[in-house]
Amino acid sequence: MTTTRSERTRQELSVSLYVNGEARQVEVPPQATLLDVLRERLGLTGSKKGCNHGQCGACTVHVDGEPYLSCLTLTATLEGRSVTTIEGLADGEALHPMQRAFIEHDAFQCGYCTPGQIMSAVACVQTGHAQGEADLKDFMSGNLCRCAAYPQIVKAVQSVAGTGEVSDAAL
Ligand code: FES
Ligand code: FES
Repeated sequence: MTTTRSERTRQELSVSLYVNGEARQVEVPPQATLLDVLRERLGLTGSKKGCNHGQCGACTVHVDGEPYLSCLTLTATLEGRSVTTIEGLADGEALHPMQRAFIEHDAFQCGYCTPGQIMSAVACVQTGHAQGEADLKDFMSGNLCRCAAYPQIVKAVQSVAGTGEVSDAAL
């Protein structure tokens, strides 16, 4: 008996992940993106679907500490990997230093891009790209803000880089 293409795409795969420090097992179609699985199957709606085509950065999460565009990442490729979303940055009630900095520097307006901006910003500081403004802007260039909060975002990221707080924060 042959299997049709539509039958093949309906077959689900079992994938084990660590999401925000918790072991999770999900049954997903082979073509399911990480963004859709986070939002629709795990109830983690902090990562936003802007373009869904890898062009806006709203969906940025960390996979094993590296920034990933979750709309371009197939969940089936992440067996055993650790995923951190914006929901996993805070330590209980205590906001992550980058979250505090975005509030203190008024680095958002509508807030739609903010979770992705913060995830990229944490990676920017951790990888040492926040010392010079040009390097910082280059690193963050994949995160678009339709409200144009860029000057405040730069200040927020620089403020955290200046304190060194983010290197102590868990990812
Ligand atoms: S939603 Fe992923 S880059 Fe725009
Ligand atoms: S704060 Fe509105 S898109 Fe960035």
